[in-house]
Amino acid sequence: MRRLFPVTDQTPPVPAGPAAPAAVGEGREWSLDELAEAYAYPAAGAPHGAWLRANMVSSLDGAAQHDGRSEPISSAADMRIFGTLRALADVVVVGAETVRLEGYRPARAREAFAARRAAAGQGPAPAIAVVSASLDLDFSLPLFTSPLVPTLVLTGAAAPPDRVREAERAGAEVVVAGDGPGVEPGRAVEALAGRGLTRQLTEGGPRLLGQFVAAGVLDELCLTVSPTLTAGDAQRIAGGPAVAVPSRFALASVLEEDGFLFTRYRRTAPV
Ligand SMILES: NC(=O)c1ccc[n+]([C@@H]2O[C@H](COP(=O)([O-])OP(=O)(O)OC[C@H]3O[C@@H](n4cnc5c(N)ncnc54)[C@H](OP(=O)(O)O)[C@@H]3O)[C@@H](O)[C@H]2O)c1
Repeated sequence: MRRLFPVTDQTPPVPAGPAAPAAVGEGREWSLDELAEAYAYPAAGAPHGAWLRANMVSSLDGAAQHDGRSEPISSAADMRIFGTLRALADVVVVGAETVRLEGYRPARAREAFAARRAAAGQGPAPAIAVVSASLDLDFSLPLFTSPLVPTLVLTGAAAPPDRVREAERAGAEVVVAGDGPGVEPGRAVEALAGRGLTRQLTEGGPRLLGQFVAAGVLDELCLTVSPTLTAGDAQRIAGGPAVAVPSRFALASVLEEDGFLFTRYRRTAPV
């Protein structure tokens, strides 16, 4: 893993000339501690009381999945960062289709992050919050029946009552964050923050992320650029109706390993 940006003062000067390496940093595997430092949530929080970061992977030609999953365009280093981002979060917010297609399981407690989480006042693992209108989810799965921290189901006030009961029977906590069948993205962020879950991480999918983008509540995007080309008609990382004016983000950092770029962008303007 090498850091390409920002370039620190400690970095040896890059020799001039056409053959000069564009990259600087150390080409070795980073410890989980180093990754956790690199991806720490801002200490000051955010103007809307929470910090919502997304973690997504995209192929070079913009595909967010291949054969219905993101694994074919991911890598071992991508999964290390995926795990690190989870370990830093209070809650992982994910769309129901991603849960169904990727076979989501509860987040694990990981020894490597235990002291860091305890010092940050966090429980052993983040809660998973599944966003769904239909609640057409298999509530017999371990995600609902045996998580370390109860799984949350974010839905609208008009969610099917029998499915709500089923979710609660399984041990999930149903949180209403919308007046109709669906969740209003801003209310989801607020409802989670109201439970003290302010370090928020969304893992998509694209339909859910598009709504966070459109609502203007996304603070940060951790985007892995995978050195793969897939062609086809896969979704991009964010879908749904386009925003009126593209939201502008600023580059915060870039790491590299095996041709994968691990970028991190932050919103430039406050909410
Ligand atoms: N490249 C990546 O980093 C990445 C990350 C995640 C996922 N993916 C891929 O993306 C695909 C799935 O993503 P997707 O965009 O189709 O689906 P998604 O965003 O994961 O889930 C869509 C579902 O979430 C629920 N939902 C979304 N917005 C809602 C709202 N406002 N209120 C209530 N419920 C809402 C609905 O569930 P109900 O139908 O239950 O009502 C909807 O059908 C998979 O192929 C997965 O592999 C890629």
